[in-house]
Amino acid sequence: MATPADPPSAEKPTRRDFLFVATGTFAAVGGAFALWPLVDQMNPDAGAMALATTEVDVGAVEEGQSVVVKWRGRPVVVRRRTAAELAAADETPLADLIDPLARNANLPPDAPATDANRAAPAGGNWLVMVQVCTHLGCIPLGQHGDYGGWFCPCHGSVYDTAGRVRVGPAPENMAVPPYRFVKPTLLSIG
Ligand code: FES
Repeated sequence: MATPADPPSAEKPTRRDFLFVATGTFAAVGGAFALWPLVDQMNPDAGAMALATTEVDVGAVEEGQSVVVKWRGRPVVVRRRTAAELAAADETPLADLIDPLARNANLPPDAPATDANRAAPAGGNWLVMVQVCTHLGCIPLGQHGDYGGWFCPCHGSVYDTAGRVRVGPAPENMAVPPYRFVKPTLLSIG
């Protein structure tokens, strides 16, 4: 089983990647806070809607990079997976999974946890997911653990490159929030 000392099984982000991710995250958060007072004064209902929805421009996210944005107080990771990450998730038999359900708010509750269902509705190598461990709510580390996905250092749960739990104690796959592309590179979460 993986331990907190395990090295990442996928490549580490470069310094350039880190700077990009930080810049993108702050830009998104800054925009949200700048809009908030105006929206709040205009209409309380509109203010509630602004809190419920987060937009993120993913146009500059390259393969192998992620951005993390805050949505309803929780981190949501938007990852553009590598071909190897995609293949690993796609080739995993459903019988190997702890949780057989997609846990994707964009699909029926009984949708199976295929990689295509985890990635929907964006599809392909995109994965949009609430980056919160389904055991007790810690924040798992990305691109760590035996399956190249996420590793939760709190009690050792391991998730694969589709965010599906592969080693407990976490009982469920990490949740895919409701989201859609409102423009070719603009993602609206919530
Ligand atoms: Fe993640 Fe316990 S909170 S394994």
